[in-house]
Amino acid sequence: MIGRLNHVAIAVPDLEKAVAQYRNMLGARVSTAEDQPDHGVTTVFIELPNTKIELLHPLGEGSPIAKFLEKNQEGGMHHLCYEVDDIIAARDRLLAEGARVLGDGEPKIGAHGKAVLFLHPKDFSGTLLELEQA
Ligand code: CO
Repeated sequence: MIGRLNHVAIAVPDLEKAVAQYRNMLGARVSTAEDQPDHGVTTVFIELPNTKIELLHPLGEGSPIAKFLEKNQEGGMHHLCYEVDDIIAARDRLLAEGARVLGDGEPKIGAHGKAVLFLHPKDFSGTLLELEQA
C-alpha cells in the first residue's frame, strides 16, 4: 500500500542554524522557509536525489511541535512521510486494522498542497507516520 518515502521530518530549535548546516556543511539544496499557519510550523525542504528532508520549526502559540522540542531540546526526527495512491482507502484500511488516525480522521492539506493524515506513533514502533496522497 505505501509507496515512496516522501520525506523525513526533523524538528529543529534553530531553523537558521539547521539551514546553514544542510546548505554549507552538507552541501544540500535547500528551499526557502515557508510559514504554514494552518499547521503551526515553518518548513524548509532539503532536496535530496531520492527523497526530501523537512525541517520543522514552531510557528505561533500552541505549535504541534512545541512539546516535542521541549522534550528534545537539540531537535530530533519527528516523522516519516510515505506516499499512498488513495489516502481515503489507506485510512479506511488502517482503521480496520486497528491503527489510530490523529485529529478528526479527515485528511488535511499539507505542506505540498496535497492531502495528508498522521498515524499514532504508539501504533508504529514509536514513529509518527504521515501519509500523503501521491
Ligand atoms: Co511532513
